[in-house]
Amino acid sequence: MRYPAGRKEAIINKISPSLSLSISELTKYWGSFYGMQDKILELGFVKFPTLSGLIDIESYAVDILGECGGKTFVESAPAQTKLFDDLGLKSLLAPILFEFAKEQFCYKGNVDNQYHISRFVCPGNSVEKYRSHFDSHLFTLVIPLIIPTSLLGEEVGEFLFMPNARRSPKSEIENIFGKMYFKRYSSRRAMMKLVKARKCEVELFSDQCPLLFLGRTTLHTNKAVSLGASSVRLSSLSHFFDPGPTFVIGRLLRSLRDR
Ligand SMILES: [Fe+2]
Repeated sequence: MRYPAGRKEAIINKISPSLSLSISELTKYWGSFYGMQDKILELGFVKFPTLSGLIDIESYAVDILGECGGKTFVESAPAQTKLFDDLGLKSLLAPILFEFAKEQFCYKGNVDNQYHISRFVCPGNSVEKYRSHFDSHLFTLVIPLIIPTSLLGEEVGEFLFMPNARRSPKSEIENIFGKMYFKRYSSRRAMMKLVKARKCEVELFSDQCPLLFLGRTTLHTNKAVSLGASSVRLSSLSHFFDPGPTFVIGRLLRSLRDR
Protein backbone atom coordinates (compact mmCIF):
# COMPACT_ATOMS: atom_id res chain seq x y z
CA MET A 1 0.00 0.00 0.00
CA ARG A 2 1.25 3.47 -0.89
CA TYR A 3 0.84 6.30 1.58
CA PRO A 4 1.05 10.06 1.07
CA ALA A 5 4.33 11.55 2.22
CA GLY A 6 4.60 11.28 6.00
CA ARG A 7 1.41 9.23 6.33
CA LYS A 8 3.17 5.89 6.91
CA GLU A 9 5.34 7.43 9.62
CA ALA A 10 2.25 8.94 11.22
CA ILE A 11 0.56 5.53 11.35
CA ILE A 12 3.65 3.90 12.82
CA ASN A 13 3.89 6.66 15.37
CA LYS A 14 0.26 6.16 16.29
CA ILE A 15 0.74 2.45 16.81
CA SER A 16 3.91 2.91 18.78
CA PRO A 17 4.18 6.62 19.54
CA SER A 18 7.29 6.39 21.61
CA LEU A 19 9.43 3.88 19.78
CA SER A 20 12.06 6.14 18.33
CA LEU A 21 15.35 4.52 19.26
CA SER A 22 17.14 1.94 17.15
CA ILE A 23 18.87 -1.08 18.64
CA SER A 24 22.26 0.52 18.03
CA GLU A 25 21.16 3.71 19.77
CA LEU A 26 19.85 1.73 22.74
CA THR A 27 23.01 -0.34 22.86
CA LYS A 28 25.04 2.86 22.95
CA TYR A 29 22.74 4.39 25.54
CA TRP A 30 22.93 1.54 28.06
CA GLY A 31 26.52 0.81 27.05
CA SER A 32 27.42 4.16 28.58
CA PHE A 33 27.40 2.21 31.83
CA TYR A 34 30.78 0.74 30.88
CA GLY A 35 32.26 4.20 31.34
CA MET A 36 30.54 4.65 34.68
CA GLN A 37 31.54 1.45 36.47
CA ASP A 38 34.30 2.99 38.58
CA LYS A 39 31.99 5.85 39.44
CA ILE A 40 29.15 3.69 40.72
CA LEU A 41 31.58 1.69 42.84
CA GLU A 42 32.97 4.89 44.32
CA LEU A 43 29.86 7.06 44.62
CA GLY A 44 27.19 4.39 44.85
CA PHE A 45 25.12 5.89 42.03
CA VAL A 46 25.29 7.12 38.43
CA LYS A 47 22.94 8.87 36.06
CA PHE A 48 22.24 7.86 32.49
CA PRO A 49 21.75 10.47 29.76
CA THR A 50 18.39 12.17 29.62
CA LEU A 51 15.48 10.36 28.00
CA SER A 52 13.98 13.67 26.99
CA GLY A 53 13.91 13.85 23.21
CA LEU A 54 14.78 10.17 22.89
CA ILE A 55 11.40 8.67 23.72
CA ASP A 56 7.94 10.07 24.32
CA ILE A 57 7.92 9.58 28.09
CA GLU A 58 4.54 11.24 28.47
CA SER A 59 2.89 8.71 26.21
CA TYR A 60 4.22 5.79 28.25
CA ALA A 61 3.37 7.58 31.49
CA VAL A 62 -0.28 7.97 30.49
CA ASP A 63 -0.56 4.25 29.73
CA ILE A 64 1.19 3.24 32.95
CA LEU A 65 -0.91 5.66 34.95
CA GLY A 66 -4.01 3.98 33.56
CA GLU A 67 -2.82 0.68 35.01
CA CYS A 68 -2.14 2.00 38.51
CA GLY A 69 -5.81 2.15 39.48
CA GLY A 70 -4.95 4.40 42.41
CA LYS A 71 -2.50 1.91 43.90
CA THR A 72 0.90 3.21 45.03
CA PHE A 73 2.82 0.20 43.71
CA VAL A 74 1.97 -1.88 40.67
CA GLU A 75 4.25 -4.71 39.63
CA SER A 76 5.18 -5.48 36.01
CA ALA A 77 2.01 -4.14 34.41
CA PRO A 78 1.76 -4.42 30.59
CA ALA A 79 2.42 -0.73 29.86
CA GLN A 80 5.51 -0.76 32.05
CA THR A 81 6.69 -3.95 30.37
CA LYS A 82 6.20 -2.29 27.00
CA LEU A 83 8.34 0.64 28.12
CA PHE A 84 11.06 -1.77 29.19
CA ASP A 85 10.86 -3.73 25.96
CA ASP A 86 11.09 -0.56 23.90
CA LEU A 87 13.99 0.68 26.00
CA GLY A 88 15.80 -2.65 25.85
CA LEU A 89 15.99 -2.72 29.61
CA LYS A 90 15.93 -6.48 29.94
CA SER A 91 17.63 -7.33 26.67
CA LEU A 92 20.44 -4.76 26.80
CA LEU A 93 20.89 -3.23 30.26
CA ALA A 94 20.27 -6.33 32.38
CA PRO A 95 23.06 -8.41 30.74
CA ILE A 96 25.53 -5.52 31.26
CA LEU A 97 24.59 -5.24 34.92
CA PHE A 98 24.64 -9.01 35.26
CA GLU A 99 28.29 -9.26 34.17
CA PHE A 100 29.19 -6.38 36.46
CA ALA A 101 27.36 -8.01 39.38
CA LYS A 102 29.25 -11.26 38.89
CA GLU A 103 32.60 -9.49 38.69
CA GLN A 104 32.21 -6.97 41.47
CA PHE A 105 29.71 -8.53 43.87
CA CYS A 106 30.29 -12.24 43.25
CA TYR A 107 26.65 -12.51 42.30
CA LYS A 108 25.77 -16.13 41.62
CA GLY A 109 22.08 -15.81 40.80
CA ASN A 110 20.17 -15.61 37.58
CA VAL A 111 19.99 -12.69 35.17
CA ASP A 112 16.20 -12.90 35.36
CA ASN A 113 16.19 -12.16 39.07
CA GLN A 114 14.51 -8.78 38.62
CA TYR A 115 11.67 -6.91 40.22
CA HIS A 116 9.90 -4.07 38.42
CA ILE A 117 7.27 -1.77 39.84
CA SER A 118 5.59 1.53 39.09
CA ARG A 119 5.29 3.99 41.96
CA PHE A 120 2.37 6.38 41.92
CA VAL A 121 1.75 9.08 44.52
CA CYS A 122 -1.07 11.63 44.58
CA PRO A 123 -0.54 15.15 45.97
CA GLY A 124 -1.32 15.13 49.66
CA ASN A 125 -0.73 11.40 50.15
CA SER A 126 0.26 11.38 53.79
CA VAL A 127 1.46 7.78 53.96
CA GLU A 128 3.96 7.47 51.15
CA LYS A 129 6.76 9.73 52.38
CA TYR A 130 10.05 9.38 54.22
CA ARG A 131 9.88 5.58 54.27
CA SER A 132 13.64 5.21 54.15
CA HIS A 133 15.02 1.76 53.49
CA PHE A 134 17.63 -0.32 51.71
CA ASP A 135 16.67 -2.53 48.81
CA SER A 136 17.28 -6.25 48.68
CA HIS A 137 18.66 -6.09 45.14
CA LEU A 138 22.14 -5.03 44.04
CA PHE A 139 20.97 -2.37 41.58
CA THR A 140 17.95 -0.12 41.46
CA LEU A 141 17.09 1.91 38.38
CA VAL A 142 14.69 4.84 38.73
CA ILE A 143 13.07 6.11 35.55
CA PRO A 144 11.13 9.34 36.11
CA LEU A 145 7.80 9.40 34.27
CA ILE A 146 5.71 12.22 35.75
CA ILE A 147 7.54 14.64 38.02
CA PRO A 148 5.56 17.43 39.68
CA THR A 149 6.79 20.89 40.54
CA SER A 150 5.79 23.49 43.09
CA LEU A 151 5.90 27.23 42.63
CA LEU A 152 5.94 27.70 46.40
CA GLY A 153 8.88 25.40 47.00
CA GLU A 154 6.82 22.70 48.67
CA GLU A 155 7.97 19.10 48.69
CA VAL A 156 7.17 17.29 45.44
CA GLY A 157 8.36 13.77 46.19
CA GLU A 158 12.06 14.45 45.64
CA PHE A 159 14.22 11.36 45.85
CA LEU A 160 16.42 11.61 48.93
CA PHE A 161 19.27 9.14 49.11
CA MET A 162 22.41 8.45 51.05
CA PRO A 163 24.89 6.35 49.05
CA ASN A 164 27.30 4.17 50.99
CA ALA A 165 25.20 4.56 54.13
CA ARG A 166 26.40 1.11 55.13
CA ARG A 167 28.86 -1.41 53.76
CA SER A 168 27.65 -4.10 51.40
CA PRO A 169 26.21 -6.81 53.67
CA LYS A 170 28.34 -9.94 53.84
CA SER A 171 25.45 -12.13 54.87
CA GLU A 172 21.69 -12.10 54.92
CA ILE A 173 21.78 -11.73 58.72
CA GLU A 174 23.90 -8.58 58.39
CA ASN A 175 21.54 -7.37 55.69
CA ILE A 176 18.48 -7.81 57.90
CA PHE A 177 20.07 -6.30 61.02
CA GLY A 178 21.30 -3.35 58.96
CA LYS A 179 17.81 -2.76 57.70
CA MET A 180 16.42 -2.96 61.23
CA TYR A 181 19.02 -0.49 62.54
CA PHE A 182 18.25 2.10 59.87
CA LYS A 183 14.52 1.66 60.33
CA ARG A 184 14.77 4.43 62.93
CA TYR A 185 15.20 6.91 60.07
CA SER A 186 11.80 6.18 58.58
CA SER A 187 10.37 9.57 59.43
CA ARG A 188 10.89 13.09 58.19
CA ARG A 189 12.29 14.27 61.49
CA ALA A 190 14.81 11.45 61.81
CA MET A 191 15.83 11.64 58.18
CA MET A 192 16.40 15.41 58.36
CA LYS A 193 18.58 14.84 61.39
CA LEU A 194 20.59 12.26 59.46
CA VAL A 195 20.87 14.57 56.45
CA LYS A 196 22.53 17.18 58.64
CA ALA A 197 25.03 14.68 59.97
CA ARG A 198 25.91 12.82 56.77
CA LYS A 199 26.25 13.48 53.06
CA CYS A 200 22.96 13.04 51.33
CA GLU A 201 21.81 13.51 47.74
CA VAL A 202 18.53 14.97 46.55
CA GLU A 203 17.34 14.11 43.06
CA LEU A 204 14.54 16.08 41.44
CA PHE A 205 14.59 14.24 38.11
CA SER A 206 13.69 17.43 36.30
CA ASP A 207 16.32 16.48 33.70
CA GLN A 208 14.56 13.15 33.02
CA CYS A 209 17.78 11.21 33.52
CA PRO A 210 17.36 7.64 34.84
CA LEU A 211 19.27 7.07 38.07
CA LEU A 212 21.03 3.80 38.88
CA PHE A 213 22.17 3.16 42.43
CA LEU A 214 23.47 0.33 44.60
CA GLY A 215 20.30 -0.69 46.41
CA ARG A 216 21.81 -2.64 49.29
CA THR A 217 24.11 0.14 50.46
CA THR A 218 22.06 3.22 49.62
CA LEU A 219 19.55 4.39 52.21
CA HIS A 220 16.79 6.01 50.22
CA THR A 221 13.35 7.50 50.46
CA ASN A 222 11.07 10.06 48.89
CA LYS A 223 9.92 13.34 50.31
CA ALA A 224 6.21 14.01 50.49
CA VAL A 225 4.19 15.01 47.46
CA SER A 226 2.48 18.04 48.95
CA LEU A 227 -1.03 19.16 48.19
CA GLY A 228 0.41 22.08 46.26
CA ALA A 229 2.30 19.82 43.84
CA SER A 230 1.50 20.47 40.20
CA SER A 231 0.61 16.84 39.42
CA VAL A 232 0.78 13.27 40.60
CA ARG A 233 4.23 11.68 40.76
CA LEU A 234 4.92 8.55 38.75
CA SER A 235 8.18 6.69 38.47
CA SER A 236 9.36 3.30 37.36
CA LEU A 237 11.57 1.30 39.71
CA SER A 238 13.59 -1.63 38.45
CA HIS A 239 15.50 -3.85 40.84
CA PHE A 240 18.20 -6.19 39.58
CA PHE A 241 19.68 -9.23 41.29
CA ASP A 242 18.79 -10.16 44.84
CA PRO A 243 21.77 -12.12 46.21
CA GLY A 244 19.71 -13.30 49.20
CA PRO A 245 19.37 -17.02 49.94
CA THR A 246 16.37 -17.61 47.76
CA PHE A 247 14.05 -15.55 45.66
CA VAL A 248 11.17 -16.54 47.94
CA ILE A 249 12.92 -15.19 51.03
CA GLY A 250 13.84 -12.02 49.13
CA ARG A 251 10.20 -11.49 48.30
CA LEU A 252 9.23 -12.15 51.90
CA LEU A 253 11.78 -9.60 53.12
CA ARG A 254 10.49 -7.04 50.66
CA SER A 255 7.00 -7.57 51.96
CA LEU A 256 8.25 -7.04 55.52
CA ARG A 257 10.07 -3.81 54.91
CA ASP A 258 8.62 -0.49 53.87
CA ARG A 259 9.13 0.33 50.24
FE1 LIG B 1 13.78 1.10 47.40
